Amino acid sequence: MTTAPPVPQTTRHPSPAGFPPDFVWGAATASYQIEGAVSDDGRTPSIWDAYAAEPGRIRNGDTGVVACDHYHRYREDVGLMRDLGLGAYRFSLAWPRILPGGGTRPNPAGLGFYDRLVDRLLEAGITPWATLYHWDLPVEIEQAGGWPDRATADRFAEYAAVAAAALGDRVHHWITLNEPWCSAFLGYGSGIHAPGRADPTDALLASHHLLLGHGRAVEAIRAHAPGSQVGITLNLYPVTPADDAPASAALAHRLDGLHNRWFLDPVFRGDYPVDLLDDLDGLLPGDWCRPGDLAEISTSLDFLGVNYYTRHNVRSSPYPGVNAAEFTHRGLSRAANGWEVDPDGLVEVLTRVSEEYTSLPIYVTENGSAWEDRVAADGSVDDPDRLGYLADHLDACARAREAGADVAGYFAWSLLDNFEWAEGYTMRFGLVHVDYASQVRTVKASGRWYAQFIAAHRDGI
Ligand code: NOJ
Repeated sequence: MTTAPPVPQTTRHPSPAGFPPDFVWGAATASYQIEGAVSDDGRTPSIWDAYAAEPGRIRNGDTGVVACDHYHRYREDVGLMRDLGLGAYRFSLAWPRILPGGGTRPNPAGLGFYDRLVDRLLEAGITPWATLYHWDLPVEIEQAGGWPDRATADRFAEYAAVAAAALGDRVHHWITLNEPWCSAFLGYGSGIHAPGRADPTDALLASHHLLLGHGRAVEAIRAHAPGSQVGITLNLYPVTPADDAPASAALAHRLDGLHNRWFLDPVFRGDYPVDLLDDLDGLLPGDWCRPGDLAEISTSLDFLGVNYYTRHNVRSSPYPGVNAAEFTHRGLSRAANGWEVDPDGLVEVLTRVSEEYTSLPIYVTENGSAWEDRVAADGSVDDPDRLGYLADHLDACARAREAGADVAGYFAWSLLDNFEWAEGYTMRFGLVHVDYASQVRTVKASGRWYAQFIAAHRDGI
């Protein structure tokens, strides 16, 4: 790794002194986005393998068949993490590697990969944080009904028990679900994510069963990996009305309901928001939420994981007769995928959850941005926009802490450029550049800056 100090291109200069000594510095990835090796050692297809194989679903017809080939290159990748000085690494376990075919018989070869990865991380002094579900549901479970089917919550709890029993002696930080809003509403509502179904009732049922599975998985982890820290990761957005019209304020409240409160309320208050239940009346069958479900969903946690990327600015559609939300922009700079760079939104999200929902520690389990990186002739990647985004959002974490939120750690998304779901390989979020043809990894300037920042914090500068 080259050590040439990059010049921070940032409007704010976060100080390492804004973070306590035990603050967790990490980076995150997810199994389908980086592993490749989709048929190795008994792994069977997930809904993302099936979805990516359908023509027209993914940009350029990309798939996760090879991705970053992390399955075979994890030693090198842990070496990169060590060079960056990461204290923690958040990764996800591929359900169909561990329980092929969505069955109940654990696959020793599949578990063996995570054994080796975890051991390697521990040798490098990096704390493993395992996410159980980052969207790769075994196809057989989808064929049996998927998340809209209540039985999937039971399957998930069984899988959680197997994973925790196998790894819980060394993995002490567990995240049940990653962004259940995406799994439910993009996977079953709009269909722009796997499995590609588009039915509002299915999406709502999926969200409830994901949350039920979460509650049951927490119990399974506690039973099989006692003493672990267990949480859930939600993707939270401030939803801000883009104009003064009362209809826009009402719309923003409603979207805040579907994006944020629909998950925060049941997990932390044991109830779904009443305004949403009224709104959704008629879409849900009578027995969708059974007695006892909310008690399971609101089982106590050890932390909340927050993924933050941008804000939603919304106004009621100005076109007469069209009952729709119009998403607008504030005129801030926009990343390659169009998302506005809005670090204040991270301060708002973190302070809101700590004031309204929980006094538990909050970890930013993902935050990052995609830009059109250019590889220089000497192979280096200077990415001032990503570096600025990172610095500004670390500053936002420090500001949220000052405002009283117990922000205890930060995981950059992502360690590596990787398979960005429907966008395929076109969007690069990595601190480390991946040349997909050669699989050569190159730490970007943003990665070097992050390493310096972590080192300065460690050294008390
Ligand atoms: C959140 C998801 O968890 C992750 O998989 C995705 O790559 C990033 N957002 C960027 O879109």
